[in-house]
Amino acid sequence: MAPFLANYYLTYKCNSRCTYCDIPVKAENVGIKETPVEVVIENLAALKRLGVKVVDFTGGEPLIYKELPKVLKAAKKMGFFTSLANTGILYPAKAKELTGLVDDLKFSLSTTVQESYKKERGVDGYEKVVESIKLAKRLGEKPSIIATATPESIWGMESVVKLAQELGVIVLLGPVFDYCGNDLLDEAGIKELKRLAKMDNVAMNEAFTKFAADGGNQTNAPRCRAISSTIVISPDDHLLLPCYHMHDERLKITHDNGVSNLDELWRSLHVQQKRKEEGSWSFCQGCTIWCYFESSFLWPPDEYFWLNIKSKVRWASQKLKVSTKSDKEVLI
Ligand SMILES: C[S@@+](CC[C@H](N)C(=O)[O-])C[C@H]1O[C@@H](n2cnc3c(N)ncnc32)[C@H](O)[C@@H]1O
Ligand code: SF4
Ligand code: SF4
Repeated sequence: MAPFLANYYLTYKCNSRCTYCDIPVKAENVGIKETPVEVVIENLAALKRLGVKVVDFTGGEPLIYKELPKVLKAAKKMGFFTSLANTGILYPAKAKELTGLVDDLKFSLSTTVQESYKKERGVDGYEKVVESIKLAKRLGEKPSIIATATPESIWGMESVVKLAQELGVIVLLGPVFDYCGNDLLDEAGIKELKRLAKMDNVAMNEAFTKFAADGGNQTNAPRCRAISSTIVISPDDHLLLPCYHMHDERLKITHDNGVSNLDELWRSLHVQQKRKEEGSWSFCQGCTIWCYFESSFLWPPDEYFWLNIKSKVRWASQKLKVSTKSDKEVLI
């Protein structure tokens, strides 16, 4: 099966410092050189040759990458479904250039309390992100809120749901996962998440919560398909194996006469052999890093596969519901 998704890390720089994320501060990420736009576009062509359908442009804060509009235009022209989450801080300055280029535009927000926002994300960005969501709506986008539920933020998450209802957007609820010493939700937190998931304007992937409750990935019977399903590219033009969060290998992508070897690299014997071991390394025991599981659950058809489909259907129906409401009914 060909990989379905690419997680394209355009930059590791960020304008926030979230308590549960070390991407912008991790020593090996600091000061790395970002890839020129032409080279990023060559990699997109290679992803197309590989059969990738969805490209998630991420980071760090993807809006910090200056040539983002050019990258997105190229991705759309090649027929990819584009996805991007951002903090909303730079969005007002870039919104016009980005309009119509992101199919799944998300703003990260887990609280409606200014002080809690600052405590969690290290910057004073609450009002800015709310403004950005309203602006995106005025520009005709269909934005969503992506809310990472931590043991602290879960108890104020209902107010994020209410805000989403007022703004006429979907909120995607997801539990925090561990990759840099994060505290996870306890049983009461998971229960609260499930309660909120039934509300209007909320989408939550039930496959993730079930998978996490079942203990996550098991190395003796791996459910992870990180390499098979997802191509992970670093800002300095490497293929990361097996996943961004636990990569122990960085393979340099090369370019010859305007052609990227990323597709050949992924098909190489080395990557295909490593692929056979995905999810079986010691660091994979109990893993719930959901960035790779939505695509990992695309096969085989087990209970996670069906829960994943069920959750996608709910997400699509909630999205349709909010988009058919007239803008007069919502606060923009
Ligand atoms: C890595 S960020 C990149 C995009 C952008 N900087 C942002 O925060 O929206 C993408 C998403 O991952 C989420 N995230 C980061 N660390 C996480 C963790 N430990 N557990 C769950 N979600 C996490 C963020 O909240 C954000 O919504
Ligand atoms: S805004 Fe995104 S990339 Fe930046 S620290 Fe927070 S989660 Fe990490
Ligand atoms: S199980 Fe987790 S840590 Fe291991 S390869 Fe998959 S996503 Fe990465």
